[in-house]
Amino acid sequence: MIDLRSDTVTQPTEAMRKVMAKASVGDDVFQDDPTINKLEEKMAEMSGKADALFVPSGTMSNLVALLAHCQRGEEYIVGQDYHTYLYEAGGAPVLGSVVPQPISVEPDGSLDLGKVESVIKKDDYHFARTKLLCLENTHNGKVISLEYMKKAYDFAQSKGLGLHLDGARAFNATVALGCELKDLAQYSDSISICLSKGLGAPVGSVLCGDKDTIKWARRWRKMVGGGMRQAGVLAAAGIYALDHHVDRLAKDHAKAKVLAERLSQFDELDVKPELVQTNMVFIKTKLETAQQLADFLTEKGIIIIPSESMRWVMHLDVSSDQLDFVCQQVKSFFNSRR
Ligand SMILES: Cc1ncc(COP(=O)(O)O)c(C=O)c1O
Repeated sequence: MIDLRSDTVTQPTEAMRKVMAKASVGDDVFQDDPTINKLEEKMAEMSGKADALFVPSGTMSNLVALLAHCQRGEEYIVGQDYHTYLYEAGGAPVLGSVVPQPISVEPDGSLDLGKVESVIKKDDYHFARTKLLCLENTHNGKVISLEYMKKAYDFAQSKGLGLHLDGARAFNATVALGCELKDLAQYSDSISICLSKGLGAPVGSVLCGDKDTIKWARRWRKMVGGGMRQAGVLAAAGIYALDHHVDRLAKDHAKAKVLAERLSQFDELDVKPELVQTNMVFIKTKLETAQQLADFLTEKGIIIIPSESMRWVMHLDVSSDQLDFVCQQVKSFFNSRR
């Protein structure tokens, strides 16, 4: 099957499975797992932060970060379409009594700092205390510039707020920007990075930050049941991905561009290749067309999620030949309707 639903669907490669099988392991709750320790040191170094914490998922990484930054009754400002607001089952308010203050996301994926300023609460016991600004980069495949990140970080600091960056796909951003992870991470107090998206590891995310934030995050990780034991087999996949799968993200970005250009030739599909910055292509069409296309493609071994606004994602497990095949099948579908 050619699965275009997400970059989370990748299978660990043979080489990755080999390093997983051979990984030295220990009990990570005692901080005894040498491979996890190595991964955390590596990520701290790459992000330019003092410390790092391996966690099972991006959702848990964001959760423990929010809870490390904000106490009960404190507030984080967040984009209303960001993962840390919309797609994490309300974890921070439910488990930490932390209050989200969502605001609309700008077309480029950033937050308007004027709007952010307007929702910062004054020091008055009627209000939750505003503590944190939460950004996401990339957001829906869009890369937020380093200039904006610096402005947002300076702004947050000037207001006494922390800044947490959901960098689930931070390496897609750095590859697109042509910079190092630490160039991006320097404009945050903490950054969460997923190993199991474009990087192709089966499981895991890493939260990077200062010693104190990571100390609190480790405590929260334990509390929410994310303290793992001999999980070095998973960290080994992460290390392998960092060593072998970062630069190749450029290939996924190039494939996404090609896909968008080819799909834009069909009148029934509204696709803007000039808006493709990383590995995601957004396609608007009628729901009925999307459903028929999805059914047609399923029979050819291609999986998409049909909707009026579809996201097709390029990743490690879609080769250039498979991309050609997908484009041919979309053409056959529209030819069959004429
Ligand atoms: C932007 C963003 N942040 C966080 C996550 C959460 O990652 P996980 O699925 O590992 O919990 C995702 C997952 O797709 C995501 O897209």
